Amino acid sequence: MANERDNNSTKEQEKTQAALKVAKEFIYDDFVLGIGTGSTVKFFIKAIAELIEKNGLDIILVPSSLDTQLELAKVGLSYSSLLEFPDLDVYVDSADIITKDHVLIKGGGAALTKEKIMAKAAKEFIVIVDDSKYPRNLLSHPVPVELLPSAINTIIQPIFNLGGEFELRYGKGKIGPIITDNGNCIGDISFSALYDPTEMEKVLNIIPGIIENGLFVSYAHRIIIGRKDDVEIIDLM
Ligand code: A5P
Repeated sequence: MANERDNNSTKEQEKTQAALKVAKEFIYDDFVLGIGTGSTVKFFIKAIAELIEKNGLDIILVPSSLDTQLELAKVGLSYSSLLEFPDLDVYVDSADIITKDHVLIKGGGAALTKEKIMAKAAKEFIVIVDDSKYPRNLLSHPVPVELLPSAINTIIQPIFNLGGEFELRYGKGKIGPIITDNGNCIGDISFSALYDPTEMEKVLNIIPGIIENGLFVSYAHRIIIGRKDDVEIIDLM
């Protein structure tokens, strides 16, 4: 129990370090800033709120999910949308894991489709993670997929043909499958044998009914790994 608490507080320190680094060094006045989703991003939202208040920056914020909208509202920050601001200067988000070749797996929070749209729409995609997420084996995390509800049973065999096992994601506090911000379902694909992530990212999206998958190959421009007292920066530009 005490170990688990220590572990959580170390992770929080690491997330804070990474979030502060981005807020201090990579965000400028007049930016259109895309904000990702998840527990790591919550530390970044706090850092941005402080930065805006202290330095009076004029920044347009574009959230990637309803959860992030709520977090921004909670700290009194107003936000816009991709429809009004389709060109992001920077998109900041986390990942579930990052491999040594800098492939990200995202979608643990079920927001992967909009996250991928925003990562692509940004001049720079900065990924912030705690130390436990990099480097990780590709097989250490399933690949999330967003799918149309009507395809739940039809995608199982095509995914199996690619070497994966599909599992529909169920949540807490709701009977039935998780429904995404876009009104779709989410599932997780486990692979037991190594696969080519570049190819897999493409072929998964060809299966009818799959809207997007959580493999982000060649998306990140900069990865910031938070450590207890400092950060490691990997520049990929
Ligand atoms: C949301 O869909 C995800 O892609 C998250 O960005 C990712 O799962 C990381 O989340 P945590 O910071 O909560 O680990």
